Amino acid sequence: MRVLITGGNGQLGKTIIQLLRDKECVLGELDPVYSNCEIICTNKGTLDITNLGEVKSYFMKFKPNMVINAGAYTHVEQCELNNDLCFKVNALGPRNLAFASEEIEAKLIHLSTDYVFDGQKKMPYQEHDLPNPINAYGKSKYLGEEYAKEFCSRYYILRTSWLYGYEGKNFVNTMLAAGKEKKELHVVADQIGSPTNTIDLAYHLLQLAAADEYGIYHCTGNGECSWYEFAKKIMEYAETNCKIHPISTLDYNSTIQRPPYSTLDHMMLRCTIGDHMRNWQDALKDFIKNLTDRRIL
Ligand SMILES: NC(=O)c1ccc[n+]([C@@H]2O[C@H](COP(=O)([O-])OP(=O)(O)OC[C@H]3O[C@@H](n4cnc5c(N)ncnc54)[C@H](OP(=O)(O)O)[C@@H]3O)[C@@H](O)[C@H]2O)c1
Repeated sequence: MRVLITGGNGQLGKTIIQLLRDKECVLGELDPVYSNCEIICTNKGTLDITNLGEVKSYFMKFKPNMVINAGAYTHVEQCELNNDLCFKVNALGPRNLAFASEEIEAKLIHLSTDYVFDGQKKMPYQEHDLPNPINAYGKSKYLGEEYAKEFCSRYYILRTSWLYGYEGKNFVNTMLAAGKEKKELHVVADQIGSPTNTIDLAYHLLQLAAADEYGIYHCTGNGECSWYEFAKKIMEYAETNCKIHPISTLDYNSTIQRPPYSTLDHMMLRCTIGDHMRNWQDALKDFIKNLTDRRIL
């Protein structure tokens, strides 16, 4: 088994690599298929997923059986400004990986987002719901999903949301840093979604891939909250005295449209390997408890 990971310097990429090395985490042991696996870590410098020729020759050389695309252009505001680069990385990137995976008969596990939906539904989105992205990031990720499906027969698409891990820029790390410096913060209270710990996502991703249960999956922390409720829990678990005040999306100075409601139902996980995603509060508490020694798994 040879597993190739793109975006290996990103927060999810790093967690997947560590889990493949450790073979177990708080959720359990990995499938035995990974016991002797060779890990091929790549990043933008060693494998630029936007370059089709480079991707094809890299795959021919290393012949992975499994390709995990954790590489993406994830800065939602910048995606709006740098439209071409956003579509190049988030749509052509997975297209190139899908072509090259198909050529060597590898499985492709591609990560996508709750932002493929417009957020107008009043109950959790299921895998069969029709995407209708409302910003450049969501549109580019949706096109990436379409390409992955079209050009690779052994595809997985895992949609996740509000992701945080120890390494990298994310809401939890930003709030923890801000909470040390400021006495109060204002956070949006009318956007609802599900915070997701990278460990839970990495574990389910690898277990699914081992099971050959191809298709589209929703994989997020269980339960839902607003960014305001999320921030309050971060401060509570970190025992920080920073006060959080709710504000509306209109009060938040952003020109980018975001889905007001993007909770994802895990129907396909439940129907296949089972849904062992922790509820978002438990996963967050565990994350903060282990912050000091940064014990990722
Ligand atoms: N973060 C979230 O809240 C969230 C929510 C929903 C879905 N997702 C999806 O989950 C996946 C993982 O997200 P993440 O938060 O772990 O992302 P991340 O931390 O931003 O990491 C993405 C990585 O992709 C790399 N990358 C950018 N352009 C590349 C290229 N041309 N070729 C190869 N690698 C490239 C980046 O490298 P540089 O750092 O060098 O640019 C970065 O290391 C992505 O598909 C994302 O769309 C994330």
